[in-house]
Amino acid sequence: MRRLKNMQLSQRIQSVQSPVIPIVGDLVRATPGAISLGQGVVSYPPPPQAAAYAARYASAGDHTYKPVQGIGELLAALRAKHLAENGFDAGRDRAIVVTAGGNMGFMNAVLAIADPGDEIILPTPYYFNHEMAVAIANCKAVLVPTDERYQLRPAALRAAITPRTRAIVTVSPNNPTGAVYSQAALREVNQICRDAGIYHISDEAYEYFTYDGAESFAAASIQGSAGHTISLYSLSKSYGFASWRIAWMVVPEHLLTAVKKIQDTILICPPVICQHAALGALEAGRGYCEEQMPALRAARSIVMNELESLGQRVVVPRADGAFYFLVRVDTDLAAMTVVERLVREYGVGVLPGETFGIDGCALRVAYGALTPSTAAEGISRFVRGLKGIVQ
Ligand SMILES: Cc1ncc(COP(=O)(O)O)c(C=O)c1O
Repeated sequence: MRRLKNMQLSQRIQSVQSPVIPIVGDLVRATPGAISLGQGVVSYPPPPQAAAYAARYASAGDHTYKPVQGIGELLAALRAKHLAENGFDAGRDRAIVVTAGGNMGFMNAVLAIADPGDEIILPTPYYFNHEMAVAIANCKAVLVPTDERYQLRPAALRAAITPRTRAIVTVSPNNPTGAVYSQAALREVNQICRDAGIYHISDEAYEYFTYDGAESFAAASIQGSAGHTISLYSLSKSYGFASWRIAWMVVPEHLLTAVKKIQDTILICPPVICQHAALGALEAGRGYCEEQMPALRAARSIVMNELESLGQRVVVPRADGAFYFLVRVDTDLAAMTVVERLVREYGVGVLPGETFGIDGCALRVAYGALTPSTAAEGISRFVRGLKGIVQ
């Protein structure tokens, strides 16, 4: 169909990278029998209480809009969660805003605090949707590499601050690296932000997923952090809620009106039936997620043991959190080329490092959705494939 002269894509959206998960997903689907180590999801469903609460709400028959910020019962339950588990009061000098997923929380945050041309500092490798959100807001992502273990380099983050910087983003436990940042490093970043008068956006979507004694740390629990810390949480991973789209932000009180303006315009209110389901999930509580951990730990051990057999041309930095490993491969091939060959020739899908903003050949292996048997088969294909392609 012919396009009229002014019917073109905005410059803004043309500058945004295309999400890679659907591309690899299509490749995997087009390859019979392929196993995906690609998407960052868990295999388990929400707890039964979630469906029970949703059904009860559906039959109650109130289908009107509800508050922009989220329903009162859920806001209260989330405040209680943070008091009990994270050591901060999200109702004092801060406010909770329920969103339709953590990605929306991040977009809300960027739109609330940054103007076109402003800078947001992202440690690399970054979570690709963060970089995309910054671009969609016409802001500039300033990329600061982490160290060879994928840990934060606070001094480098400080050095990257300019008069246009509005925030530093941290994700711990991390997607795509699986790294868990130390409490000391997160405290340092939070203090750097405070000193510079910028925000610390702390994405804690994977807070429950840690291994081998590592612990995630809530930036909002830091004394004096209330005025400049934006924390993002989600039920997607911990409660198997990926398609139910419930997450939340904890924002400084002074940002509440701005965030509500954005959310009112984009969403009006988070889906109310899912907010009731979330109440059911929180009633089941963290214990539900803990019950799932043995299977995840088993899949992780299988993956880790197999990766160790890869030898010197493949580096697998320590990953004590989330459900990812980001392996670095010593080859001149582009990561996407290796990904395509792994799917087509070896029947296994992983994500290429390019999409996380890093040079060189790196591949993200996700094990959250695997059972021990698919983990064993998937990772052995991956290892065989890498040996065949690069060794
Ligand atoms: C670091 C991080 N933040 C946020 C999200 C988005 O989660 P959701 O929008 O489903 O809450 C993801 C999903 O992969 C993630 O890895």
